[in-house]
Amino acid sequence: SSNAMWGGRFAAGPDAIMEAINASIGFDQRLARQDIEGSRAHAAMLAKQGILTDSDVEAIREGLLTVLSEIEDGTFQFSTALEDIHMNVEARLKDLIGEPAGRLHTGRSRNDQVATDFKLWVRDQADAAVEGINALQKALLAQAEAGADWAMPGFTHLQTAQPVTWGHHMLAYVEMLARDASRFADARARMNESPLGAAALAGTSFPIDRDMTADALGFDRPAANSLDAVSDRDFALEFLSSASICAMHLSRLAEELVIWSSAQFRFVTLSDRFSTGSSIMPQKKNPDAAELIRAKIGRIFGANVALMTVMKGLPLTYSKDMQEDKEQTFDAADNLMLALAAMTGMVADMQANRESLEAAAAHGFSTATDLADWLVRTLDMPFRDAHHVTGTLVKKAEDAGCDLADLSLDDMQSVHEDITEDVFAVLGVHNSVASRTSYGGTAPDQVRAQVQRWKGILT
Ligand code: ARG
Repeated sequence: SSNAMWGGRFAAGPDAIMEAINASIGFDQRLARQDIEGSRAHAAMLAKQGILTDSDVEAIREGLLTVLSEIEDGTFQFSTALEDIHMNVEARLKDLIGEPAGRLHTGRSRNDQVATDFKLWVRDQADAAVEGINALQKALLAQAEAGADWAMPGFTHLQTAQPVTWGHHMLAYVEMLARDASRFADARARMNESPLGAAALAGTSFPIDRDMTADALGFDRPAANSLDAVSDRDFALEFLSSASICAMHLSRLAEELVIWSSAQFRFVTLSDRFSTGSSIMPQKKNPDAAELIRAKIGRIFGANVALMTVMKGLPLTYSKDMQEDKEQTFDAADNLMLALAAMTGMVADMQANRESLEAAAAHGFSTATDLADWLVRTLDMPFRDAHHVTGTLVKKAEDAGCDLADLSLDDMQSVHEDITEDVFAVLGVHNSVASRTSYGGTAPDQVRAQVQRWKGILT
């Protein structure tokens, strides 16, 4: 049988394979709520403009609510033959209210309809991402506050560099996540123009009011060019690139948790609630959640690359290629939200092991820079000479199998005779971190000030 929507032009229905490749209802049913919201706004506008009668529009708007409740309570019968959510909803509306259903599509096309629905969905996801990020920031902030003055090794190249504070390290992620949240907010602000009323591509001859529908759907204004409005998927791409950067940050934190929870580091203990065991090795407690979060960037950035690639060669305006925008974006959004929630749980539950952190902070010659700075300050040595003297002392300690603080004053003076007992004060990790008082530095006072600042922001 030929299609109910365009049967006039067609003698035969589609091949089964055609239907399989063409249908999007399997996934775009997630847009049901947005589709019905958009249609209700469109119908109300058609009535106000005198394009449809009030009674037709009343029937349409009521009928759409019935369709929505059928979808929400799971009794709606989705049909692949009806291709997508838009035609499924419209066909069911026709069953329910008859002839007026056929008037709903006046002055509209599936091209502006799908762009509107999808934009509304992505806009909600951008808001949800900001919320998810805020929750994770709060969990990190609680960790930062508890350990504002706990020393730990700071790394470059994953080699011990200088002692830092646990609170400082936690706050580094709070900063990254704040940029992520602001990227989602920026994308949201830019995407907030309504495609509805662009119709198929050229606009319409009906006297529609696009400001009215834009307003009803919470858009700032109607998109100003109908060709652009139906062919734009920038909003999804901006969401996906913001999601990719955020997922990359989550992946880096996850990587640190995997390393830190190992027996070799013991910087953190992950809660049982966010760990798994091994079916063979009884001692194991594995950081599976962290590993899966670390992996999520793969599919999220994959979605970004996939949609960018789909869009890159498309002539204006709509092409069916664009139907491939949804599954990737749905999957990326679902997995970003899941990763944010799992990371929030892990960070909230994890226990930082102060003793292990501070013991590690003292190892690996982490205060060598403090020693060099002391030589500069106390003996007025040029920094490059101080670097050389300190390097020699590090070598001496390494040969003796001890840390810098374990060298005797005689050992020190054998390298440079003017070194005095006072030098030992700067070799302690707590002295080291306390001295890094420059703005944004790791000193506990700086960390506490930043914690207070973030507490004011993340209420
Ligand atoms: N299912 C389509 C999509 O997701 C809806 C728009 C169809 N428009 C068209 N001209 N065939 O993109």
